[in-house]
Amino acid sequence: MQKIEEAKSKFGTLLEQQLARIEKMKQNATPINYADCKPIIIGITGGDGIGPAITKASKDVLEYLLADAIAVGKIELRNIEGLTIERRAAEKVAIPPAVLDELKKCHVILKGPTTTPQAGDEWPNIESANVAMRKELDLFANVRPVRVPEKGLDWTFFRENTEGAYALGSQGIHVNDDLAIDFTVATTQGCERIIRAAFEYAKANGKKRVTAVTKSNVVKTTDGKFSMIAKEISKNYTGIILDEWYIDIMTAKLIDEKRRTQFEVMVLPNLYGDILTDEAAEFQGGVGTAGSANIGARYAMFEAIHGSAPRMVKEGRDIYADPASMLRASAMLLSHIGYVKESEKLTNALDICTVSEKKIVITGRDTGCTCTEFAAYIMTTCKNI
Ligand code: IPM
Ligand code: MG
Repeated sequence: MQKIEEAKSKFGTLLEQQLARIEKMKQNATPINYADCKPIIIGITGGDGIGPAITKASKDVLEYLLADAIAVGKIELRNIEGLTIERRAAEKVAIPPAVLDELKKCHVILKGPTTTPQAGDEWPNIESANVAMRKELDLFANVRPVRVPEKGLDWTFFRENTEGAYALGSQGIHVNDDLAIDFTVATTQGCERIIRAAFEYAKANGKKRVTAVTKSNVVKTTDGKFSMIAKEISKNYTGIILDEWYIDIMTAKLIDEKRRTQFEVMVLPNLYGDILTDEAAEFQGGVGTAGSANIGARYAMFEAIHGSAPRMVKEGRDIYADPASMLRASAMLLSHIGYVKESEKLTNALDICTVSEKKIVITGRDTGCTCTEFAAYIMTTCKNI
């Protein structure tokens, strides 16, 4: 009985936290205007595993593409140290407070993958740094493009990034030795802002279909809310169809060659977005090829969609890690802060180096080139565009 009381009290705290978050969302923070940032500070944090290697490669490319803006003080690239699993484990926090303070002094962040502990491994079972950063900086829209022109695929995923099963994923309750309970959360404000972002993107880019992916027939309350709000919001966008799919059949339809080319913009709760975007990236060449933008009103963070690949480091292969995902993320960062020409140049160079020309290739082992060699290839290609 006392265990039930303890669980109730923890649940009460969660409700209070979520209600407070709703109040914050209601204040509708004014979006940042990068033209007012002198300089625009790009924080760069390497993370764990292959993170430092692929982040360094991306930093070199950014430094190259932004050389003029950096020289005249319009842009500052700033290294942020300390977002490592060793330090996070020592402090037993998802993000050390001093590191978070430094991150908050930046306008945008390029983040290498960070190790996410799980019960039973060598680390304390702390919250994922990704998840914590998305919540701390209120980066509610996780935008993940996947393009495979030769297969007719041009998808943009809008994964909700601050709610769902993720938001409370480290706040579940072991009621007693036998009973474990997790929570998922959906708020009106949280659903509205991600669904609106997806529709606004569709409108601005001439897309005709927004697909909402849930399991609202089973997960009736939270997914049900997401689905109802999608229906409501779609009424404000004439000419754009709202199409609804359940996550299970959606994973199947991504491999249905006839159906999948019809999808354009997908909007989904956090966990479904996590799963579906890994599957989608596979058509493009794997998670190593996909970048991701985490966008909020004040901050934005750009990262690979994959993890830190500790196995590659253990096997001494980190110098052969593929930086393409971080470079795609860097291209998204550039266009987000208004450096569209530089972004297009990088995207074109990536297409040339990984698809059409492939003078050197990354294989993840000594059969291919190193991460540094690949970054040099990208920069030479940029020079010739
Ligand atoms: C992603 C990753 C992260 C997530 C992990 C590393 C916590 O898989 O960005 O998709 O699950 O969100
Ligand atoms: Mg993932």
